[in-house]
Amino acid sequence: MGVEIRVDGLTKSFGGAPVWRDVSLTLPSGEISVLLGPSGTGKSVFLKCLVGLLKPDRGHILIEGHDIATCRERELYRVRRLFGVLFQDGALFGSMNLYDNVAFPLREHTRRSENEIRSIVMSKIEMVGLLGAERKLPGEISGGMRKRAGLARALVLDPEIILFDEPDSGLDPVRTAYLNQLIVDLNQQTGATFLIVTHDINTARTVPDNIGLLYHRHLAMFGPREMCLCSQEPVVRQFLNAQRVGPIGMSEEKDADELAAEAAAGVELAALPPIPLQLGPSNGEPRPSQRPPGQWCADNDVTPPPGSFEPDPSSAASPVPASAGAAAPAGAGPGVAGGDGP
Ligand SMILES: Nc1ncnc2c1ncn2[C@@H]1O[C@H](COP(=O)(O)OP(=O)(O)OP(=O)(O)O)[C@@H](O)[C@H]1O
Ligand SMILES: [Mg+2]
Repeated sequence: MGVEIRVDGLTKSFGGAPVWRDVSLTLPSGEISVLLGPSGTGKSVFLKCLVGLLKPDRGHILIEGHDIATCRERELYRVRRLFGVLFQDGALFGSMNLYDNVAFPLREHTRRSENEIRSIVMSKIEMVGLLGAERKLPGEISGGMRKRAGLARALVLDPEIILFDEPDSGLDPVRTAYLNQLIVDLNQQTGATFLIVTHDINTARTVPDNIGLLYHRHLAMFGPREMCLCSQEPVVRQFLNAQRVGPIGMSEEKDADELAAEAAAGVELAALPPIPLQLGPSNGEPRPSQRPPGQWCADNDVTPPPGSFEPDPSSAASPVPASAGAAAPAGAGPGVAGGDGP
C-alpha cells in the first residue's frame, strides 16, 4: 500500500510571476511528510499540481509510471483515483448532508450499490468519530466536525495518497492533538503516502517522517524529520522554531537593512530546542516507516540538541488512548472528485 511520488524540476508561475522554481523531492511510499512555508509561498498550489488540478509550467510528477504534469485528461482521471484530498477551504457541498457528501466520490467514481456505499460510508464516518451526525448539513455542525467529514470523504475510495491542506487550521490545541493522533493512526492502518501542509510547528516537529520547507520561491529543504530539526540553515531554524530572528520577515523576506540591524544589535538565533519523540500510533505498535528515535542522527554522526528524544508525559508526542482517536477532527474537502466543490 502507498505509492511513491517523485517530483522533478517542477516550476509554476501565474501571469509570469513564479510561485516556485525547480522543486524536486520524493515523497516515499507509505511515509508521512509535512510541507511548511510562510503564507503565500505556494503550498496549496503545490498540492493542486500533485493532484493535477493545476498544470505546472515545467517539470515532472511521477506516480506509478504516469507523469501527472504532462499526461492527458483520461489518464489523469485514472491516476486521481489514487488520491484523497482535504482542501484548505472546506469544500463540503453545502446542500448535501454529511452522508451524501461522504458518499459522493463513490457514486461519482464507482458502480457500487447503495447498500455497499452505505457500509463504506458508515465505516468512514465511524472512523472519524461522526456517527450520529450523518444527516446533518455542513452548516449545522462545527468547523472541527466539517473537517472530520472532509476527511471521511477523502478516505472513502481507500486512497493510496492522502494530501491534507492545513487540516488543523482553526482548530483548538486539544482538537489538533486528536487530529494528529488520528492522522498517525490512519497512516498505520492504511499504509498510504501522506503529505500534510500545516502552519502548526508542533505538528511539524512531532508527526512526520519527513519535513519540507518552501521559502522564497524554492524548496529550501526536504528530508528526514531529525535532519531538519538539527538543521543549522538559518531559514529552517527560524521556521521550525517559530522565531522572529532570521531571514523571514513579516512580508516574507527581510531586506538587507533589517538583517544588518539585527546583526548590529548582536541578536542571534536561539539554540536548537530538543528534538521531541515522534508521535506513535495509539495502539503502541510502530508504523512500518517509523524509525527508532535518534536513528537518523546516529547514522549520520549528528549530535542532536541536548534533551532530545526524552519522553515527556505532558507533550503532544505522548500516545493518546485508542478510543480518543475516534473523536478527532480533520480537514474538509472532496475525495478525488477533482475540485474544491461549490
Ligand atoms: N489560480 C490562481 N491564479 C493566480 N494566482 C494564484 C492562483 N492560485 C494561487 N495563486 C497565487 O500563488 C501564490 C501561492 O498561493 P498558495 O495559495 O499556494 O499559497 P500558500 O502557501 O498555500 O499560502 P497559505 O499558507 O496562506 O495558505 C499566491 O501568490 C497566490 O496569489
Ligand atoms: Mg494554502
